[in-house]
Amino acid sequence: MSDAVRLDGVTKTYGSTTALADVSLTFEAGAVHALLGENGAGKSTLVKILSGLARPDRGTVTLFDQQVVFADRSSSSALGIETAFQEIPLVPDLSVADNLLLPNQPRRFGFLLDRKAARGQVAAIGNELEIEDIDPRTPVRELDLSLRQKVEITRAIARKPRLLILDEPTAALSKADVEWLGRRIQALKTAGTTVILVTHRMPEVHEFCGRMAILRNGRHVGSFAVGEISDEAVFKHIMGRSVQVTFPARNASPSSAQPLLSAKDLKAGRQLESVTLDIRPGEIVGVAALQGMGQLELFNALFGAERVLSGTILINGQRAHFAGPSDAIDVGIGYVPEDRKTQGLALNRSGTENASTPIVSEFSRLGVVDTATERARVDDAFCAVNLHPRALYQTAAEFSGGNQQKMVLAKWLLTNCRILLAFDPTRGVDVGTKHEIYGILRRFAEDGGGVLLHSTEVPELIGLCDHIAVLYRGRIAADLAHGEATEETVGAWMLGSGEHARAVA
Ligand SMILES: Nc1ncnc2c1ncn2[C@@H]1O[C@H](COP(=O)(O)OP(=O)(O)OP(=O)(O)O)[C@@H](O)[C@H]1O
Ligand SMILES: [Mg+2]
Repeated sequence: MSDAVRLDGVTKTYGSTTALADVSLTFEAGAVHALLGENGAGKSTLVKILSGLARPDRGTVTLFDQQVVFADRSSSSALGIETAFQEIPLVPDLSVADNLLLPNQPRRFGFLLDRKAARGQVAAIGNELEIEDIDPRTPVRELDLSLRQKVEITRAIARKPRLLILDEPTAALSKADVEWLGRRIQALKTAGTTVILVTHRMPEVHEFCGRMAILRNGRHVGSFAVGEISDEAVFKHIMGRSVQVTFPARNASPSSAQPLLSAKDLKAGRQLESVTLDIRPGEIVGVAALQGMGQLELFNALFGAERVLSGTILINGQRAHFAGPSDAIDVGIGYVPEDRKTQGLALNRSGTENASTPIVSEFSRLGVVDTATERARVDDAFCAVNLHPRALYQTAAEFSGGNQQKMVLAKWLLTNCRILLAFDPTRGVDVGTKHEIYGILRRFAEDGGGVLLHSTEVPELIGLCDHIAVLYRGRIAADLAHGEATEETVGAWMLGSGEHARAVA
């Protein structure tokens, strides 16, 4: 079989960073390929080169037997290459429909937008690709991260590419939408489309992909058929050492100390109906839920980022009113938000400035920042999350997706907050770092802190949490103790059928 993609000696540097070092590899046509590697390994850089967003310093790229040098994204598009990017570049103020058709909206007389034709095209896309859950008229701004990701993927697939590249598409997708993507990939494979899927999740590699290519530190360390080598061997190639994914030990006895935070009958936003829960020192409390069950409103409300419609929040037994996040930060709450890009980081600022934002006053005298002390403190936090020291100086924009996530986490570790709200903190993070984040959360709790953790990966909640509150339609359907929570029980309650499962059991 011929190759869809062939790279020969491709090197790409950014300043002193070598993102890709002399990479030579091929992706066979008509197959689904996983592209694996730890955070910063060079996956997105490779994706950008294939999509015309970055140019190699050296080496050649051959696509469908044609050597190419792309000037921009549209020249790769013209060759039948479409990409759903990790950093979703949709236009927030335009509707879903406009985003799907951009930049090729149907026009009359060459310039007038043909609304009727556009509606027809979008309806056809919606039918074919099963996106009934998204109203095409909605401005993208109003969609949550998961649906925005779905629109981004749909946009790429709708153009019927010969080569479809998906850069960590499932990091932000809900479970149902991961299944949706599985069906889409299957259909593309049947049609003979070549697919490259960047992911950190091995189950998806097994389910969707036939082959895998692994990058480490910008180098190609090998390509394999899926199933040819064990997952441990894959991790070893990814990390350059063996890793075992285990969860840190928990203190078995449930805490009876006074809660650090209590929510009583909390109602907020459109989806959070009524939630009562406590976070005690030493605890990691899990929140399991399918997408849109009120978890986002819960986290935002506890951080003062969403108005509480009714109910109360107590901090150390005292009633709290948050006019905004700064009030929440003042009483010792930290928040790793869902969307690190818009809420977590200032992309054009250095890692040091980003991480020290909440505590910069500690290093300032009369408005002058003592940068040496600031840097030393941030450096400690970056070490804790295994972030490269150059993050101290470089801007957040220059970091890979997973490394940006670590930066947000480091920022809150620095504040000495006692309550950490962590919304899917391991999203897009490689296996090694995931492991480190588990340890960080557990140590945070052991040091007397309390964590509220939402994760889209149920095994992660089961492995890590002291108990798990399952949200269903804005209410806690079940609060499962560590021993009671299995993938089946949590899953049943997430789907609203836990009572039924309990009756059967
Ligand atoms: N615009 C840029 N300026 C400077 N350095 C960059 C830039 N883009 C990427 N890099 C660096 O190149 C390296 C590879 O980054 P890349 O985004 O390709 O990683 P990745 O494998 O996609 O990681 P992740 O899993 O975290 O998304 C990283 O060290 C990153 O910091
Ligand atoms: Mg990336």
